Amino acid sequence: MRLVLLGPQGVGKGTQAQRLCAATGAPHISTGDLVRAEITNGTPLGATIRAYNDRGALVPDDIIVAMAMPHLDDPKGWILDGFPRTIPQAEALDKALGAAGTAVDAAIVFEAPDDALIERLSGRRQSKATGKTYHVAFDPPPSDDPGPFIQRDDDQPDKIRQRLDLYHLETEPLKTYYGERGLLLTIAALDTIDAVAKKVVATLQTRFPTAPLAPPPATP
Ligand code: AP5
Repeated sequence: MRLVLLGPQGVGKGTQAQRLCAATGAPHISTGDLVRAEITNGTPLGATIRAYNDRGALVPDDIIVAMAMPHLDDPKGWILDGFPRTIPQAEALDKALGAAGTAVDAAIVFEAPDDALIERLSGRRQSKATGKTYHVAFDPPPSDDPGPFIQRDDDQPDKIRQRLDLYHLETEPLKTYYGERGLLLTIAALDTIDAVAKKVVATLQTRFPTAPLAPPPATP
């Protein structure tokens, strides 16, 4: 299955992508993780894109498209988290997939009001060992993840607000883009993590009745 996950920062795209990997067998591709890996590894590309990430701005379309594309030829499909994030990125994705004879199967948009997202983002931690994302209260790390658990530099209140503004301006128009193509599935994301995961799998099962979907793993 080739799925695009949309939604504002902190709505749970990465969290649900981790569970969707288990449900579908497709890998999770997060352009945010790709960006942070380049920065952490001190590559020349990382030096170029660091300033965008640190101030909560979007990396230029041509750079992010070039970073994402090599990950998209997996025969198991993919769960794309954080890409595309602008109309030009969506067009570039469609063009590349079309040339390869494939296409996006569905775009899932997670919706929650901005005010609810601040609490989620300020409690978010990412494991340095496994790359998995947790929340100090809503999804604490399990005992078999050794950590350490890092808080992202862009999860500060002023940068969160700026990133949310950017979402409404640059990314929200993708709802119309995918809606016009009959690909948009909308999920209300104010419920618990497990309840949202169940809704996602149920919605996919309705849309793709023959797809082999396992139940999503429950939060320990
Ligand atoms: P990226 O890493 O994608 O960050 P983001 O867009 O800010 O999205 P988030 O990761 O913050 O949101 P999420 O929805 O995944 O939330 P999560 O599941 O973690 O991008 C970082 C940067 O890279 C960008 O700013 C940009 O510079 C660059 N970049 C990346 N892609 C780009 C692109 N395509 N174009 C240009 N630039 C790009 O959940 C948040 C927290 O809430 C977690 O702690 C989680 O445990 C908790 N939580 C989740 N669901 C629930 C729930 N239902 N109830 C309670 N808590 C919950």
